[in-house]
Amino acid sequence: MSPDPHALRERHGAVALLAHPSPIGRLERLEAALGTAVRIYVKRDDVAGIGGGGNKLRKLEFLLGDAIAQGCDTFVTTGGLQSNHARLSAAAAARMGLACELVLADVVPRHDADYRGNGNLLLDAIFGATVHRVPGDTDRPALLHARAEALRAAGGKAYVVGAGGSSPVGALGYVACAWEILAQEAALGERFARIVVPNGSAGTHAGLAAGMAAAGEDAARVQSYAVLATPEAAHADTLALAQTTLAANALPGSVTAEEVVINGSQRGEGYGIPTPAMREAVELLARTEGLLLDPVYSGKAFAGLLAAIRGGAFQPGEAVLYVMTGGVPGLFAYREVFGGHGSEPQP
Ligand SMILES: Cc1ncc(COP(=O)(O)O)c(C=O)c1O
Repeated sequence: MSPDPHALRERHGAVALLAHPSPIGRLERLEAALGTAVRIYVKRDDVAGIGGGGNKLRKLEFLLGDAIAQGCDTFVTTGGLQSNHARLSAAAAARMGLACELVLADVVPRHDADYRGNGNLLLDAIFGATVHRVPGDTDRPALLHARAEALRAAGGKAYVVGAGGSSPVGALGYVACAWEILAQEAALGERFARIVVPNGSAGTHAGLAAGMAAAGEDAARVQSYAVLATPEAAHADTLALAQTTLAANALPGSVTAEEVVINGSQRGEGYGIPTPAMREAVELLARTEGLLLDPVYSGKAFAGLLAAIRGGAFQPGEAVLYVMTGGVPGLFAYREVFGGHGSEPQP
């Protein structure tokens, strides 16, 4: 099959929430700061689209398309209090004229006012979503089901999506992205030795791996850093989702266990808990390139990429692609980690 991202979007009735392809650029100032002969590229999925941008828009293009095809009027989904997926679901639903309900669970041990009211939560309110805040141990699938039932009883129709939008429909967004990358490699005259992403709910890695496999390419070029689940659990989830994404969407090829490469070194004490390496990565990229990572996903994954480059994991002259997945509003929920209070000028 021809790996044509536009044809895939059309076949599945995806809606348009971002400009395709997202740009790829090289980070020469960062390369110089690291003193490396590895060429470092970034793909800007963080800026291409509505709602502040981010990787979830690619999944939402297919999910909203499916919701509209099914005649749904309300998009219902879930995440942590600072979920980027929730914020972009609210933006995408608004853009497509659907109502949005968010079940947001208190899963990260942070109690400061910024975490509990700023960042993505502020934007959820601005996008007009209905937010249900629940304790971390809530049975969220049951609650999502109950909300769908209540909406049905009131004459509506809900489209329910699990955390992160990482279903075989949502993952198609990153199948299309893999095919976009192949075309951009050809245009640039580069071949990326690795394509690096964070791994939260597994859809980004699984979609990219499935897309590479469907195009007859090496799925193991895609590698992720687990920031939510343990690397073992993330491996199982990513492999299962890559395989079902291929099968459920009648795509050719297969992904094997060996081809799913996940690194657990950057997770730290757990999901949403900052690490010193994350802070160093966020500040280094900001101060060399003027680019923003986020504290929960991309900051940790980029810290892993920096450690790999510094540790000699790449040959001089190789190129690597880091997919910037967004999440910038999360920085405003982590002001305690980065400072940002400034100081009065001294007389
Ligand atoms: C900014 C950001 N990067 C990366 C990810 C991880 O993507 P996935 O959930 O598809 O593994 C997320 C997921 O929430 C995210 O918000």
